[in-house]
Amino acid sequence: MLVSSVIPPAGASDADTVAVGLIDGVPLSKEAPPELSALLDSGEARVTFRSLAVAHAQGKRWILVGLGKGDELTAERARVAAAVVHGRAVELRTLALCWQLPNAPTASEPAELAGALVEGTILADYRFDTFKSKSAGTAKEDADEGPRHLDRLIIAAAPEAGIGTEALERAVAAAALVADSVNAARDLQNRPGNDLTPTALGEEARRLGAEIDTLSVEVEDSSGLAARSMGAFAAVAQGSEQEPALITMHYKPATPPADGTPVLGLVGKAVTFDSGGISLKPGAKMWEMKFDMSGGAAVVQAMAAIARLALPIEVVAVVGATENLPSGRAVKPGDIVTATNGKTIEVNNTDAEGRMVLADCLCHAVSLGAERIVDLATLTGAVIVALGSTYAGAMSNDDEFAARVVGAGESTGEISWRLPLHSEYDDLVKGQFGDLNNAPEDRKAGTIVGAAFLSNFVGEVPWVHLDIAGTAWDLGRTYAPKGASGFGVRLLVELARSYC
Ligand code: BES
Ligand code: MN
Ligand code: ZN
Repeated sequence: MLVSSVIPPAGASDADTVAVGLIDGVPLSKEAPPELSALLDSGEARVTFRSLAVAHAQGKRWILVGLGKGDELTAERARVAAAVVHGRAVELRTLALCWQLPNAPTASEPAELAGALVEGTILADYRFDTFKSKSAGTAKEDADEGPRHLDRLIIAAAPEAGIGTEALERAVAAAALVADSVNAARDLQNRPGNDLTPTALGEEARRLGAEIDTLSVEVEDSSGLAARSMGAFAAVAQGSEQEPALITMHYKPATPPADGTPVLGLVGKAVTFDSGGISLKPGAKMWEMKFDMSGGAAVVQAMAAIARLALPIEVVAVVGATENLPSGRAVKPGDIVTATNGKTIEVNNTDAEGRMVLADCLCHAVSLGAERIVDLATLTGAVIVALGSTYAGAMSNDDEFAARVVGAGESTGEISWRLPLHSEYDDLVKGQFGDLNNAPEDRKAGTIVGAAFLSNFVGEVPWVHLDIAGTAWDLGRTYAPKGASGFGVRLLVELARSYC
C-alpha cells in the first residue's frame, strides 16, 4: 500500500473514497458536501464510536465513521476506527482511500492521530495468503472476492488540523514503516513450522542485515551454542533434526546517541514449533505452537524498523530459534543441564523450554553490553488465564525501566500489566539436585515463576520480561482479530524512541 499525506481539503485528492470521522459536538467542516449533513440529520450517520454510514457525493464515496467524544479519542481508538473504515472500504472495492484528519481537540496530538490512522489501516489490510493457490476458489467466488486490499492511503489534514506539511509527512511515513514491520513480523509468525525453521528465521534476519547498512547480523548453529557453553538452549534443540539458530543483531546508529543513552537489549523466544518435547502437549490446538516464535519475530522486525528509522540509540538483539520435539536424542525430564553462566538446571518438564532458551540468550545480551533488557516470549499458558488477550504480562527487576516499557506499550495499544516478583517465587524455582528447576511441581503463579527463573540470567541489568502468550495471536482487536498480531514490534520501536 502506498501511503502519503496532503494538506488541502481531502475532496481535492484523487482518492475514490474519503473517510470522515464524526466527533461528538463537532460540526462537519464547511467544505463537506451537503449530502453528509443530510445523513447526519437523518440519523443514519452517528457519532457513536465505530458506527458507519456511506454517502455518494462529488463523484466520490464518503465513509462516515463515529469517533465518539473528542477527549476520548486516543490513538488506539483511532487505530480501531481506521480498521473499521478499512473493512467497509474494501468491501465496497475502494482502491484509494483518503482519511481526513479530525481537526477538533482530541485525546492525542495530530501527528499521533495521523500515525494511528495509518497503522490501523495498514494492519487491517494485512492478509496471509502465501500458501493459497490462485485457483483455490471457483471463478464466481474469485469475482465476488474483488480487491481485498487498498492500493493507496492518503492522510489529509486541513490547515485548521494544527499540523504542518512536514510534520504530517514525517508522522505518516514513520507510521507506515513501522506498521509494515509489524506485518512482516505477522508473516513470520503465520508461516508454518515446516517452512519457517530456525535456519529460515536466521536467513530472514540475515537478509535484513544485508539490506540495512547500520544493522549487522550473525547467525550461529548448534556448534555455536556448544562453543558458547549454552547448555540450556542446546538441550531444547537437541531433540530436533533442524539446526537451532542463535541470531545476534547489532544496530549502531550513524549519528552517535546522546551522552547517557543506554545500550538497549532486545531478546526474543523463537521456538518455531513447540510440541512440548518428551513432556508432549495434548493434540488439541497443538498446531498453534507454530506461533511460539512470536517474541523472536517481533524482535527481528523491531530491529529492522529501528535501524530504518535511524533512531539515535544503539541496540543489540538476541533471538533464540529452535524446535522443541521429542526424539531419541531429546532432553528428558530429570536431566540436568548447565547454562552459559554456569548455573545448573533440572529439566522437570521439557515443555518449559522457552525459559531454557531465554536463559542463555539473556546471558548473551548481557555479555554484549546491553544496559537495559526487554525480552518477549510466549512463555506461559498461565498468562492467558490471568490476563486473557487484553494485556501482556510484564515482570521486572527495575521499577523505572518497567514504567518506561509499560508506558511505551500504552501509547501503541500494546498494553501490559505488571505482575510482582518476590523472593518467595525464587524459592519455587530452586532445584532439588541442581541450582534451578525449570518447572515446579505445583503450578502456582505460573507466569511469575517463569520470570523468577529468567531473573537468574540478567545479573544486575534492569530488565523487563513480557509474557506475550495471550497477545501474540488471536488478539481480537479490529486491526488484528485472528492469527498473528505482531505484538511487540511497535512497543519496542516506541521504547527505543523514548530514549531519543
Ligand atoms: N509455548 C508454551 C506456552 C504457551 C501455551 C503459549 C499456550 C501460548 C499458548 C510454553 O513453552 C509452555 O509450554 N509453557 C508451559 C510451562 C509449564 C510446563 C511450566 C505451560 O504454560 O504450560
Ligand atoms: Mn512449551
Ligand atoms: Zn513454548
